[in-house]
Amino acid sequence: MNSTKRTVTCGELCKADVGKTVVLNGWVSRARDLGGLTFIMLRDRYGITQVMVGDKASDEVKKIASSLKSEYCIAVEGVVAARADKDVNKNMATGEVELEATDIEIFTTSQELPFSIEEVRQKDGTVVLPNEDLRLKYRYLDLRRDPMQKNIILRSQVTFATREYLTSKGFLEIETPTFIKSTPEGARDYLVPSRVHPGKFYSLPQSPQLYKQLLMVSGFDKYFQIARCYRDEDARGDRQPEFTQIDMEMSFTNREEVLATTEGMMQYIFKKTMNYDLPATFDRITWEDAFDLYGSDKPDLRFDLKMQDAAFMADLSDFAAFKAGAAKASKEFPRHERSGCKALVVKNVADKYSRKMVEQLEAVAKTYKAKGLAWMKVNAEGNFEGGISKFYAGKEAEICSKLGAEKNDLLLFVSDEKWQLACVALGAVRKQLGKDLNLFNPADEFHFAWIIDFPYFAWNEDEKHWETEHHMFTLPQKKYWDTLESNPGEVKGDLYDLVLNGYELASGSMRINDPALQERIFEIVGYSRERAEKAFGFLVTAFKYGAPPHGGIAPGLDRLIMLMRHEESIHEVIAFPKNNLAASPMDECPSEVDEAQLRDLHISCYGVE
Ligand code: AMO
Repeated sequence: MNSTKRTVTCGELCKADVGKTVVLNGWVSRARDLGGLTFIMLRDRYGITQVMVGDKASDEVKKIASSLKSEYCIAVEGVVAARADKDVNKNMATGEVELEATDIEIFTTSQELPFSIEEVRQKDGTVVLPNEDLRLKYRYLDLRRDPMQKNIILRSQVTFATREYLTSKGFLEIETPTFIKSTPEGARDYLVPSRVHPGKFYSLPQSPQLYKQLLMVSGFDKYFQIARCYRDEDARGDRQPEFTQIDMEMSFTNREEVLATTEGMMQYIFKKTMNYDLPATFDRITWEDAFDLYGSDKPDLRFDLKMQDAAFMADLSDFAAFKAGAAKASKEFPRHERSGCKALVVKNVADKYSRKMVEQLEAVAKTYKAKGLAWMKVNAEGNFEGGISKFYAGKEAEICSKLGAEKNDLLLFVSDEKWQLACVALGAVRKQLGKDLNLFNPADEFHFAWIIDFPYFAWNEDEKHWETEHHMFTLPQKKYWDTLESNPGEVKGDLYDLVLNGYELASGSMRINDPALQERIFEIVGYSRERAEKAFGFLVTAFKYGAPPHGGIAPGLDRLIMLMRHEESIHEVIAFPKNNLAASPMDECPSEVDEAQLRDLHISCYGVE
């Protein structure tokens, strides 16, 4: 071989190339030695090409070919040949051709692998993956697997499309520091001790929130950043200790413009990277309706099973459990006082659902603190049957007409003195039913929606004080400005979440730009002037120099890619994620450090409690 440098990739050869002499570089995905004839599936990130080592190869090359094992990294020179019709592989982009090898060079060999790079399936077709820590220990090999290559490639394309879209709309990409002053946000901070300032710490940002607001004060009226954020919180499938946001902020704007810009960005990303058309605008649901109808502020809208109000049923019988839930079920009651009696009508499944299956649904409701899941069925004669049916004999017509129930429907109820608890518990049952009955509309692969009109404050029962639902820089809706102190529970924020397929994808808000209003918020959440001054004084000071009206949003990049690829965990879309104990089994991070390093950082005692 004159040069081992590839002239083409493993994903591009086709019939038009027949007769050409080319060089391929890649990894041996599989090698089959048929005695005198060796077939190699050669892989790189662009695809797979079949290499045939036969008549065109010298004995020496044949010998090299028969020594090849999985994941050897090699160069092959050869002539492109058409495959016989019967050998064409329609599932492979290069399936019409193969390369007849004239020369092979082994760059490096590979040890026996800890797991197969090729897909392994059980007899029933399910893909078998090695355990997660083994995958993470050998992440560089795990990343060679086809789905992981697709995930990481899509991530890069989405990041590029994001930059293209936002830049075309006049946004500037500006970096903000990742060593910042520790300021209280939602989660715990990761801290970095300072060598130069004994006893002092930098904090890694939970988000660039304060800096992006300061950039608005500086006049950069459209900012974005593909920003790394750090939060020391318990890991979950959709959370990582370090993750990435598409962080955006705009000045002289309003909610409508922020929402429209975000919709435009999502449409552009989906079209550009997956040729998928999203709707021109996304649904909008108020926070309260989201709980009333779906039992969640991040509802999965790919299926349309809505919860209904069943408070009217309390007057139709003596069934005690409904009385408490119905007592204050009206929307007139403030959120914290409201009770709930909620129903789900599951269409045409009564004959399929055994008592045991209903009990399994009840267990789901109980994990969300419901006292129980009441149920009954509408039988073939249109009468109620099972569960609580004896309380409602003779009331079929009224109840079925109010709830839109018909023969063979299953009726499920959660009733509780607490409205939100009743909604959340039955909402979890709704979610489970969506999965169990596969209610998803196949034509509705990506269902985005805005959740708006969030309550501004939440009452912290343990610590007996108000705290903000989002962050303290969110603007309360103007109509509540006069009653912030007198009726905090009723205040709604100018804040919005973007949800996709049951996940919170993005959060954002219009911000306070009036220092006096900001101070009122600090006071309501119990921040003394001194504490607020210490934590956020620089922001409040900045706002005294002509802060423009501004607002923004931050979609989570990891969650976006996870959802675009229908993955169940963000681990699958991050090249080197941490496991659920916030550790990396590959490089054993976090790790102990030298005594000398600790001494430099003025950390004198180091131990585990
Ligand atoms: P928020 O805290 O809601 O808002 O975060 C915005 C989005 O970031 C993603 N996200 C995460 N992704 C992975 N792992 C995590 N631990 C994690 N935490 C959050 C989610 C979430 O919707 N500064 C505000 C935004 C703003 O107001 O502009 C903020 O950070 O997708």
